[in-house]
Amino acid sequence: MENQEDVVSFAVEDGIAWVNFNRPAKRNAMSPTLNRRMMEVLDELEFRDDVGVLVLSGEGTAWSAGMDLKEYFRETEAQGLRGVRKSQRESYGWFRRLRWYQKPTIAMVNGWCFGGGFGPLFACDLAICADEAQFGLSEINWGILPGGGVTKVVVDLLPMRDAMWLTLTGDLIDGKQASAMRLVNESVPLDQLKARTREVANKLLAKNPVALKFAKDAVRRVSTMTYDEAEDYLVRMQEAANFHDKSEGRKEGIRQFIDEKSYKPGLGAYDL
Ligand code: ACO
Repeated sequence: MENQEDVVSFAVEDGIAWVNFNRPAKRNAMSPTLNRRMMEVLDELEFRDDVGVLVLSGEGTAWSAGMDLKEYFRETEAQGLRGVRKSQRESYGWFRRLRWYQKPTIAMVNGWCFGGGFGPLFACDLAICADEAQFGLSEINWGILPGGGVTKVVVDLLPMRDAMWLTLTGDLIDGKQASAMRLVNESVPLDQLKARTREVANKLLAKNPVALKFAKDAVRRVSTMTYDEAEDYLVRMQEAANFHDKSEGRKEGIRQFIDEKSYKPGLGAYDL
């Protein structure tokens, strides 16, 4: 039996929570144990004052080889519908939690990313991968459709031809192809992956954290709204953000530009 504590590793350094899938011997396949532990770790980190950005990566050669075919599928099916639904709730639960996380999140994809791995990939706000990473919807190769939201993820992120190609062929794409397809924001050589991710995380750490939370939610929410609904939602959300931002950041941002002339908003963030 695996140690529940070990299947997810994490460390907080300089405002960044580095969270890793930690089953390298199983290519970080997501077992029910891992899914439960990931929810606990997300819970523990979400409102900590020393965490401004969360980075999700994988130990070893994989980011995640998707759902664990033995523990997530075969063994829960053996428990009947009750077991299946429970393990689905646990995995979908932390994916959803991550999609609406309080802090901005970055998927740092270091290696294999298969099938169910597209759930947390999409859940992260930004994604940076290694050129050497390999992505694939392998579901078709073992006889199922990409479920657990994965088909929705690729249709939301990719043009239909690319979504259909990956879905029907199960072909792999490398990091550079994933970046060209916009499955991720960018791809860099593996030996630069952590440094580049830290750079991007630091860029986010310099911004007003309340504005970041409302802005990231807005990007996800408005995609399913009409223009008028979005306009109204964004007005209301800015007003809600004004309430939550006890630092009155927007006023300070204007003051430092207009009165103090200490920075230019077009060129970078105000001093928090
Ligand atoms: N589920 C369960 N076990 C897995 C998974 C998985 N998704 N992926 C890897 N493992 C296990 C292997 O069974 C093996 O276990 P063992 O050492 O006890 O025999 C161990 O991890 C190492 O795997 P290898 O195949 O030996 O590693 P290799 O580096 O050669 O290949 C690769 C890596 C390509 C990721 C391969 O393991 C693989 O194809 N995995 C399955 C990927 C997949 O299709 N995932 C499911 C997507 S669909 C979905 O998520 C709904």
